[in-house]
Amino acid sequence: MNIILFGPPGAGKGTQAKKLVDFYGIPQISTGDILRANVREGTELGLAAKAYMDKGELVPDEVLIGIIKNRLNEADCEKGFILDGYPRTVPQADALAVILEEIEKPIDIVLNFEVPDEELVERISGRLMCKCGASYHKTFNPPKEEGICDACGAEVYQRADDTSDAVLNRLDVYKKQTQPLIEYYEAKGILVTLDGTKDIDVVFEDVKGILAKFA
Ligand code: AP5
Ligand code: MG
Repeated sequence: MNIILFGPPGAGKGTQAKKLVDFYGIPQISTGDILRANVREGTELGLAAKAYMDKGELVPDEVLIGIIKNRLNEADCEKGFILDGYPRTVPQADALAVILEEIEKPIDIVLNFEVPDEELVERISGRLMCKCGASYHKTFNPPKEEGICDACGAEVYQRADDTSDAVLNRLDVYKKQTQPLIEYYEAKGILVTLDGTKDIDVVFEDVKGILAKFA
């Protein structure tokens, strides 16, 4: 099963991706997580990406296309994959189509999570992250033990781009550069839009219902 999780910042892509990894045993490919790992490790890629990320701007397409090409060619993608946060521009989507044709793994479905802007801002401003990629919310989805990741036991923290200025810019960038992909995938007949405002577990039930025919 080859899936794209699509939607604005804070829509719940990462949250649902983690649940899908556990349920279907296929990897989550979050370009945001890959970039943040590079920033943490101080790699050349991370140093170049940080300035864009902190402002809520997109990192240049050629960087992302290189990352995704390498990642999709890894062995764990053999049985399928969950793309989270990629593609975000039309050139990224076009490059993905070429890569997937080469490895003969077409996208089965694009799940588009819809959530109103006010709720996105509330979610993002309360979000807590872990370096393992798990994501929590101070009120909506707190870790069992305060400040500690349920999944790996590390300390949770607030993301550098979850400040109010960067969040508003991310929403703006989403609308201008990423939202056009809704039509792009609609035209291919593989986009399904879901109500992302329901409780996390209810959204997951909806997701599993939609994916059942591909499993
Ligand atoms: P990225 O890490 O992808 O961030 P994003 O798109 O801004 O999305 P988020 O991670 O903020 O949202 P999410 O949908 O995963 O929400 P989550 O599940 O965490 O990208 C970061 C940056 O990296 C970009 O700005 C850019 O600079 C760069 N980048 C990455 N990919 C790129 C690309 N392809 N091209 C160029 N640049 C790229 O949930 C959010 C919060 O809400 C959490 O607290 C969660 O607990 C809570 N929540 C989730 N679901 C629910 C629910 N149903 N009800 C209540 N609360 C919920
Ligand atoms: Mg995310």
